[in-house]
Amino acid sequence: MSTVEFHDGLNRGVAPVTYGTGDRPPRGDYGRAKSDYTCEQAYAHYTAADHETYRRLYARQVQQLPGLACEEFIRAVQQLGAPDRIPRFDAISERLLKATGWQVVGVPGLIPEEAFFALLAERRFPVTDWIRKPEEFDYVVEPDVFHDLFGHVPLLFDPVFADYMQAYGAGGLKASRLDACELLARLYWYTVEFGLIATPQGLRAYGAGILSSAGELRHSITSPEPERVGFDLKRLMRSRYRIDTYQATYFVIDSFQQLFDATAPDFTPVYREVRDSIAKSGEIEAGVVLAGERRFSVA
Ligand code: PHE
Ligand code: FE
Repeated sequence: MSTVEFHDGLNRGVAPVTYGTGDRPPRGDYGRAKSDYTCEQAYAHYTAADHETYRRLYARQVQQLPGLACEEFIRAVQQLGAPDRIPRFDAISERLLKATGWQVVGVPGLIPEEAFFALLAERRFPVTDWIRKPEEFDYVVEPDVFHDLFGHVPLLFDPVFADYMQAYGAGGLKASRLDACELLARLYWYTVEFGLIATPQGLRAYGAGILSSAGELRHSITSPEPERVGFDLKRLMRSRYRIDTYQATYFVIDSFQQLFDATAPDFTPVYREVRDSIAKSGEIEAGVVLAGERRFSVA
């Protein structure tokens, strides 16, 4: 369990955190949720101002994508539908089901990690239905509909990434039994939320936390400040992350297939090895690079 901070147009949060920890109660109305934590998208409750907030967020973000977001994302982002109002989850699900067998389902906000894992394992992606207030345009404390839809849903149209997300869900249920959720959450953080991918044209972002952030998208690809290291599962699981600033370290994959293949083996011995190496050598702080590591530099 951990508290989440969302910042800078968001997305310092990681979805598989248990809500209601720390000093702040969760924001959503959980009375609406079924036992699996899903709920109807309260579409009639959106005001004109809500749709306008979405339109402005979308416009700000979409114009930044060329040269910074991966091609798979740019191609699929149109599948969200009309950019001038909050999309209907059902309409997206119809397209997504045909493409990769995924659906989006409404949730009142952050949900307990086991519920989250179970939905992913069933190829149902939980999307928060409320949207931030206009005064939260650049800063929102929890993931909202813009982060969840714009950040996460486009890549669910990619067949390999779609399979990775399902495998992550199944792996999460197993990690819960093995008491390894903290290690597995690092994988989610450094791939699904803040992952970079190396392409022939240069580094590009595929992580939702980056793609839905006004400032971090450019920062992650062009700033000389952060470290960018090649994806290595066990190294990644030893690595702490920051929730209150831009990332100090990004992990770079070569392809979604590489990510899928590297995470396909049974993690039971992986968790053991990672725990051993943490006991022996400690965790790796964000921003720290190890000797001999594959590093990527920006042009
Ligand atoms: N292979 C992992 C396991 O055995 C499951 C997993 C797959 C986890 C993909 C994350 C991502 O636990
Ligand atoms: Fe997210």
